[in-house]
Amino acid sequence: MIKAIQSFDEYTRAYAASIADPEKYWDDQAAQFIWKKKWDKTLEWNFSDPDVKWFIGGKLNITENILDRHATKTPDKVAIHWESNNPDEAGKDITYKQLYEQVCVFAGVLKQKGIKKGDRVCIYMPMIPELAIAVLACARIGAIHSVIFAGFSASAVADRVNDAKAVAVLTSDGSFRGTKSIAVKALIDEALQQCETVKTVLVAKRTGDAVAMKDGRDYWWDEAIAGATPVYEAEEMDSEDPLFILYTSGSTGKPKGVVHTIGGYMVYTAFSFANVFQYNEGDVYFCTADIGWITGHSYLVYGPLLQGATQVMFEGIPTYPDAGRFWSIIDKYAVTHFYTAPTAIRSLMSFGDTMVEKYSLKSLKVLGSVGEPINEEAWHWFNEHIGKKNCPIVDTWWQTETGGILISPLASITPLVPSYATLPLPGVQPVLVDANGTVLEGNNVEGNLCMKFPWPSIIRTTYGDHERCKQTYFSTYPNLYFTGDGCKRDEKGYYRIMGRVDDVINVSGHRFGTAEIESAINEQADVIESAVVGYPHEVKGQGIYAYVICDKTDKNEDQLRKEILDSIVKLIGPIAKPDKIQIVTGLPKTRSGKIMRRILRKVAEGDLNNLGDTSTLLDPEIVEEIKKGAL
Ligand code: PRX
Repeated sequence: MIKAIQSFDEYTRAYAASIADPEKYWDDQAAQFIWKKKWDKTLEWNFSDPDVKWFIGGKLNITENILDRHATKTPDKVAIHWESNNPDEAGKDITYKQLYEQVCVFAGVLKQKGIKKGDRVCIYMPMIPELAIAVLACARIGAIHSVIFAGFSASAVADRVNDAKAVAVLTSDGSFRGTKSIAVKALIDEALQQCETVKTVLVAKRTGDAVAMKDGRDYWWDEAIAGATPVYEAEEMDSEDPLFILYTSGSTGKPKGVVHTIGGYMVYTAFSFANVFQYNEGDVYFCTADIGWITGHSYLVYGPLLQGATQVMFEGIPTYPDAGRFWSIIDKYAVTHFYTAPTAIRSLMSFGDTMVEKYSLKSLKVLGSVGEPINEEAWHWFNEHIGKKNCPIVDTWWQTETGGILISPLASITPLVPSYATLPLPGVQPVLVDANGTVLEGNNVEGNLCMKFPWPSIIRTTYGDHERCKQTYFSTYPNLYFTGDGCKRDEKGYYRIMGRVDDVINVSGHRFGTAEIESAINEQADVIESAVVGYPHEVKGQGIYAYVICDKTDKNEDQLRKEILDSIVKLIGPIAKPDKIQIVTGLPKTRSGKIMRRILRKVAEGDLNNLGDTSTLLDPEIVEEIKKGAL
């Protein structure tokens, strides 16, 4: 287990040591874990192929560091307080011993179904304990899990299952979200009509709704575990074997499968969890993210459990039965560490302070924010109303590709500045570069955020397409990992993330590529062409604004908009629905045919008088039309 840094002085020394001799620094951290065989070499890397390997030759199973370790040392300690969607339904407290047993039993089910080391298993489930168990059981037998957020459509699921060539899908009959009950298994059935590689589907019971079960493919979870022989022996894995694939959107093409490998990911998620949150014995940690996103992987499943923490896992939504739900959960479990997204803070702020005042929140010690820049208003509200000005807020900057938090205050150690992610963690070497790729030295500079040296949980590849990994992250600037974010370094050397500089939109902390949404819009039969941009949105951070050119049709605009939304819901899911759809007759293009998104962004922002130079456009008239019709 990782021992956290205790003071700012110690952080400064640790940071310096980690830069002077990274291998020694990470050797010492990695030595805190259970390995079946120690690594022979700490690091080999280049950012040109790219090829990064950590703890080379080391053999381990990550779940031994979670289950065997803590089930032996603290068997009766609660690992997960599971809180149901409905506050009147009893939750479940799962101890480390029980988690160990349940994972070993389910690992036995996976083995019995013929799933082997290296096979890909897709998981599409609500936030029920079986989801965490499923993830860990895959890791136990060496299968590569690919969790798909259970808000994606059947078509999006099929794309991901096919890309990963998954042999199995783990799912549930249905799910509860607020007052809604959602048919999860039916969606999987629809998705799997397009997938040939899946041989086994295991279905956990949650809603009890009737579902179709396909003979020879589909099995009930509870029946399968009843007849299973537990697998207590954890599969021996190589440090660089893949642990999981997680699909994420980029500025071009379909979502890509980010691959993380076992050794480095284990060391870095535990390390960053311990240091950023400063979790101590007896604390109760609550991360509101869904396991379908990277935050749920690194700071719900892996980081906290590696460190033997007690945490809350919540099935429901922040506004059910009312907008005080998070606060009631905090009081119920005496939560000390609360980690959420700015979009949730802004949304809950809008319900008024009375929703908060009913609760004491006195157990809280540390607050965390993740997923998007936190604006000052939300920061102050979080600080005053939730933290009662007594809890540091760790504004944690990172990405699916980074595996763990790279820039963040360490709670109660790093001096805070609202809306600043502050300083890099030990081992993290950020650089800012200008548009020409020149590294900006010194402080008080702003540029594109890159990393010049690998940390243990850096992305290794994009599944099945290494060239795409190289092009996306390692080609914009030679020998640097490019994050896609703009960033400022102030006079004190503190980092402030300014948002994406590419065609990625961050809606409520969820990433979408504009091209991905455009291609879903273009599937509607009347659409000729579309362009999507992000614009500032009070609650979601960014909203989605779509400009769409349609063929001549008898349909009115409302009908067209409805059909366009339907197409997006079908191909991606409701989370990618544009907030605004403007039907236009043309798009502002340069003579070479490139869409001038800058102009579209300005119109979407409502900044109609600052469109800049439009003289190079093929048809400047179109800008006037778009301005007139702006929503
Ligand atoms: O733009 C940054 C933003 O979210 C992007 C990464 O998205 P994703 O891979 O989905 O991971 C989200 C959870 C780690 C980044 O490129 N982002 C994330 N955290 C912050 C942030 N922007 C500003 N401040 C943050 N703390």
